[in-house]
Amino acid sequence: MNYIQIAIDGPAGAGKSTIAKLIAEHLNYIYIDSGAMYRAITLKAINLGIDLEDEGKYEFVKDTEFRFLNGTLFMDGHDVSHDIRENDVSNNVSLVSSFLFVREELVSSQQILAKNHNVVMDGRDIGYKVLPDAKYKFYLTASIKKRAERRNIDNIERNIKSDLKIIEKEIERRDFLDSSRKYSPLKAADDAVIIDTSDLAIDQVVKLITDKIMEDEKNGF
Ligand code: DC
Repeated sequence: MNYIQIAIDGPAGAGKSTIAKLIAEHLNYIYIDSGAMYRAITLKAINLGIDLEDEGKYEFVKDTEFRFLNGTLFMDGHDVSHDIRENDVSNNVSLVSSFLFVREELVSSQQILAKNHNVVMDGRDIGYKVLPDAKYKFYLTASIKKRAERRNIDNIERNIKSDLKIIEKEIERRDFLDSSRKYSPLKAADDAVIIDTSDLAIDQVVKLITDKIMEDEKNGF
């Protein structure tokens, strides 16, 4: 059986996670949030009290177990979906995800999670690194202002302290770090469809993508 993989990449706040989750629900595919895994490792590193800057201290990633249940991430058997959104994690995840060892381990876990299922996976390097053979690849982007506004609303809904101006600065910083890092920087795969979501509602983007997939599948592409 040939499984279908859908890769969705893009910068923070472009709506990837919400959109990817809805697409997965719509098509009855498994949703894998790769950013949540980098966040979870950052959370674990903070809780272990290691020196976050010391790449040699991340051996623990090898013994970390990940499971997604209905889009919720469990790390070592615990639901970490709330804690990985805390500011402390957000502020350090670019550093942690820049380490080659961490990336190699997580990319391999992501590839295993995507095996033998129809999946929607979102992240920064899914289309060109994690799932280079994905049948469908999308790269979602939006203006910094729009992305900051969305993250602000998201934080407020999650009861996380939030300040729009600070978020804007933080997104700018994270864009820079994510797209300029040495290993697997944020970028679109050459064969990805690029969608600017600045002036589109979530439902419009979901419809755009699911319509394309259902049309192609119906026509046997
Ligand atoms: O999607 P997110 O904002 O929750 O991702 C958190 C961080 O993880 C982001 O700053 C970059 C990193 N990341 C990555 O390097 N590669 C991925 N495939 C997904 C996320």
